[in-house]
Amino acid sequence: MQISFVGSADATAKEGGAWVVAATESSVLLPAAVRLDKESSGALTRALKFSRFTGKSGQFLEVLAPSGIKASRLLLVGLGKPESLDEKGLETIGAQIAGRLYTAHEGAAHLEIDVPKKSKVRKAELAAHLAFGVRLKSYAFDKYRTRNLEDYERKLNTVRIVTPDPAAARKAYAGLGAVADGIFLARDLVNEPPNMLYPAEFARRAKAQLSRLGVKIEILGEAEMKKQGFGALLGVGQGSARESQLVVMQWNGGKKSAKPIALVGKGVCFDSGGLSIKVGTGMQGMKGDMAGAAAVTGTMLALATRKARVNAVGVIGLVENMPDGGAFRPDDVLTSLSGQTIEVLNTDAEGRLVLADALTYTQRRFKPKLVIDLATLTGAIVAALGFEHAGVFSNNDQLVERIRSAGRYTGERVWQLPLDPFYDKMIRSKIADVKNIGGANSGSITAAQFLLRFIEKDMVWAHLDIAGVAWQDGEQKPAIPSWGTGWGVRLLNRLMIEHYEA
Ligand code: BES
Ligand code: MN
Ligand code: ZN
Repeated sequence: MQISFVGSADATAKEGGAWVVAATESSVLLPAAVRLDKESSGALTRALKFSRFTGKSGQFLEVLAPSGIKASRLLLVGLGKPESLDEKGLETIGAQIAGRLYTAHEGAAHLEIDVPKKSKVRKAELAAHLAFGVRLKSYAFDKYRTRNLEDYERKLNTVRIVTPDPAAARKAYAGLGAVADGIFLARDLVNEPPNMLYPAEFARRAKAQLSRLGVKIEILGEAEMKKQGFGALLGVGQGSARESQLVVMQWNGGKKSAKPIALVGKGVCFDSGGLSIKVGTGMQGMKGDMAGAAAVTGTMLALATRKARVNAVGVIGLVENMPDGGAFRPDDVLTSLSGQTIEVLNTDAEGRLVLADALTYTQRRFKPKLVIDLATLTGAIVAALGFEHAGVFSNNDQLVERIRSAGRYTGERVWQLPLDPFYDKMIRSKIADVKNIGGANSGSITAAQFLLRFIEKDMVWAHLDIAGVAWQDGEQKPAIPSWGTGWGVRLLNRLMIEHYEA
């Protein structure tokens, strides 16, 4: 889809296609709507009389073939209360508009949405966030469809956003376009089936996408990891025919001396549970168990594309958890990269094993300023928080507050759960340093406590359990049109902007 910004002077309804204008609550028409209403001899005000449109956010009023203007369609969109209009709301509205126009006949649309009085959003930001919403909605994962393609076709291919200062809007959009690219990469990786996307293929794609942007990429295979002592990560991968991989991505856009922000991702390309095998229905969707790694990779792409002034390192542990004759077993003891021994009591609690070694490697090699890991770690977090919040666990309250703030801005929200020595007791092993499951209760917390065992002294760390938000059934939000949501890219990008960029 082509999205561009045009000045009000160039834009007139003398052109065909759909024209989208706006009203706020109580059907107060904004200037562009007033103008087009006049030019069409009152088509909008007449239609309003026969409609239940009141200007609430997300409402639409549509007039087909209005007389007096060349536009094929006038679409009036509700913005709601001007005071509550914000960036993420505009993204939703942009996505809703695009969705509406997908079912229409036109290939082109103009969006002419004024900033309402009493709104604190700036004009360029309004245009840019509308465009961002349109772009996010344009995502589709149709590469494996071969029949009835016309059912999935979208005629809308050109969207022009009318704004008083197109250059300013373009500038505001530049960063968001980069974030959308990162989200799309993350969604693609999550949606891709596991016979197509296995560890080496994930690593290959990460390299292909990122190295051309100036990200330094290293890929460690099993031989190298064995030499270095990645006993926990390799234990998980040993029952798979596919080779495990560790991918290290470095973006150095900040000051030379500045310690990097480290992002670590769980990349289980398929989680069968291993010998502690999942039941059939529990295994469906486990191609998405690499969503943490996908979010890290997508974020690195966004940072590099917009040349973020920050030093960031992304480390992802890529494995497949499978149950062949060489698989690790319940009762096995693994020696992790940190030297700590782990008694495996359930091979389905594999994500924490992968993260343990990835975290140790990241901290020892990069001495980062802080480390944030993302993982579809526990079903228990879905039971606790459902689909609207990711769980956050941390040893640093300031970092939690920063993540929470970025979450409020982007709509990728988080909810803090506790860490406490009490829960750590639940993962004491009878024979090794730690065991990989806690017990029947507080499963997300004991998983986080396990990770904490691998956080080095004084390291600032947060863990995001994204099992409930990384994918979705149906379409819950207009700007998230596919199964894989790309959750985390927006949040991490925003966190960098708010706190860590020079
Ligand atoms: N990948 C799963 C967690 C998961 C479950 C993500 C459902 C998304 C939806 C993880 O590896 C897992 O299997 N966790 C177990 C841990 C248990 C064995 C202690 C779980 O949550 O049941
Ligand atoms: Mn598992
Ligand atoms: Zn898993």
